[in-house]
Amino acid sequence: MDLSVAVGAAQLPNPVGVASGTFGYGSEYEKLVNLQKVGALFTKAVTLEPRPGNDIPRIIETPSGLINSIGLANVGVDRFVKEKIPFLSQLPCAIIPNVAGSSEADYLKVVATLEHIDDIWGYEINLSCPNVQCGGMAIGTDPAQVEHLTAKLRAITPKPVIVKLTPNVTDIAVIAKAAERGGADAVSCINTLVGMVIDIHKKRPVIASGTGGLSGPAIRPVGVAMTYRTSQAIDIPVIGIGGIMTAEDAIQYFLAGASAIQVGTGTFVDPGCIESILAGIIDYCEKENLHSISDFGKIAIT
Ligand SMILES: Cc1cc2nc3c(=O)[nH]c(=O)nc-3n(C[C@H](O)[C@H](O)[C@H](O)COP(=O)(O)O)c2cc1C
Repeated sequence: MDLSVAVGAAQLPNPVGVASGTFGYGSEYEKLVNLQKVGALFTKAVTLEPRPGNDIPRIIETPSGLINSIGLANVGVDRFVKEKIPFLSQLPCAIIPNVAGSSEADYLKVVATLEHIDDIWGYEINLSCPNVQCGGMAIGTDPAQVEHLTAKLRAITPKPVIVKLTPNVTDIAVIAKAAERGGADAVSCINTLVGMVIDIHKKRPVIASGTGGLSGPAIRPVGVAMTYRTSQAIDIPVIGIGGIMTAEDAIQYFLAGASAIQVGTGTFVDPGCIESILAGIIDYCEKENLHSISDFGKIAIT
């Protein structure tokens, strides 16, 4: 069966990706996951300058999920190129840096710096981080800014541009359409939902920065509903994310209109789930007589 997924003029080797911020820069999982089975590796966010991230505690487990407020801790684009690209370049999967910034200029400079690296397949533009003061979600909740920044990025790279959407909006379709108008090749749907846990004895939030982003199975029904809403609204591919732990979860996303998926928190629980999810998708396709991932379109709910 044909596992490839078309995004713009390029193709992902298979539809199972690993989500940004949950898979480091790949090498961290080398001994735990058969990296040959990963379709796309979305790196930890890459910013212009290195960032230490937010104060701790910045992660806490919640029922069926977790809340994080890492605050885009990362090595910065120059060290990313020097220290992380050599390992990533050896992998057969699509290497997709998750690009973040505090301003439009930041995003453009990071992409311009990475543009000469042939092994980079494309970019995921993180317009949806709930854990930073400026940039991120502040841009990603405003359709005019989403369209403007996407168009600027479109002008400086022929590689796929994937805009990562925040669920923390009234109507995600409005933002998805803005990304499409700006020239995005696909959207990733969804980033985390803003959440808070309060320590009732200390009478303050557990997470140092107050709120964080909720991920894991708790958000799966939200991710599936938003993938459905988004895929009905736009013609470019939707990459479904949120709470995927099993092949059955992934298939819900395909039936909601996703062309590919990403697994995030699921790999914290069971790094081997990447392989079993891919195997389960193939099994399902064989039983349903689907010969390619794009055939899901024929049976997607309407
Ligand atoms: C610890 C942690 C760090 C994350 N860091 C990023 C990030 O740097 N950039 C980004 O776009 N998303 C980031 N995310 C969001 C995930 O990529 C994903 O969209 C979200 O967790 C929902 O998927 P999941 O339920 O499978 O984890 C992070 C999530 C977690 C749990």
